[in-house]
Amino acid sequence: MTATDEAGSPRGRAPLRLALYQPDIPQNTGTMIRMAACLGVAVDIVEPAAFDVSDRHFRRSGMDYIERAAVTRHISFAAFDRWRREAGHRLILAETDGRTRHLDLAFSPGDIVMLGRESAGVAPEVYAAADATVHVPMQTGLRSLNVAIAAALVLGEALRQIGGFPAPVLAEDHEQKDQSG
Ligand SMILES: C[S@@+](CC[C@H](N)C(=O)[O-])C[C@H]1O[C@@H](n2cnc3c(N)ncnc32)[C@H](O)[C@@H]1O
Repeated sequence: MTATDEAGSPRGRAPLRLALYQPDIPQNTGTMIRMAACLGVAVDIVEPAAFDVSDRHFRRSGMDYIERAAVTRHISFAAFDRWRREAGHRLILAETDGRTRHLDLAFSPGDIVMLGRESAGVAPEVYAAADATVHVPMQTGLRSLNVAIAAALVLGEALRQIGGFPAPVLAEDHEQKDQSG
């Protein structure tokens, strides 16, 4: 993982970031870090988390994609918010009660999409700080999506809008991979 003060987007990565607010469940965090590594999206973990988010812990859990991910840990929401304001990143909060449908927000390069903790979402100070809040529409009467699924839906829409998905893999590359097993 990179240090807190090295939070710039690495070269060759999508100009979007995924922020995880005080995550509770390591498997969900691992899933989102894996997705971010595959899509070239940097990850910000806003602590405290309910588990040890050090490299050692994730590696032991088999979450080896962390080696391909750019993960930055922030010691608190205040520290994260200070950093992102200074760096000029908008904060887009994804919550079940977000104001705008995720399909209707105009995402911009540099945006940070934040997901809440599994047990309790985010604190009121996060709503107050966010530049926009979005929700993924759901069927009436159902409480929420799994956090990693919500992250995938919102990030997918944001990347689609800004043309931020990785360049397509050439057919020849697939053939070479197939032959090498
Ligand atoms: C399991 S939900 C918990 C949120 C909810 N406030 C609660 O306490 O029941 C964990 C996180 O997933 C994200 N999430 C889940 N469903 C969502 C939806 N329909 N739209 C946007 N984000 C969602 C939010 O970031 C949320 O904080």
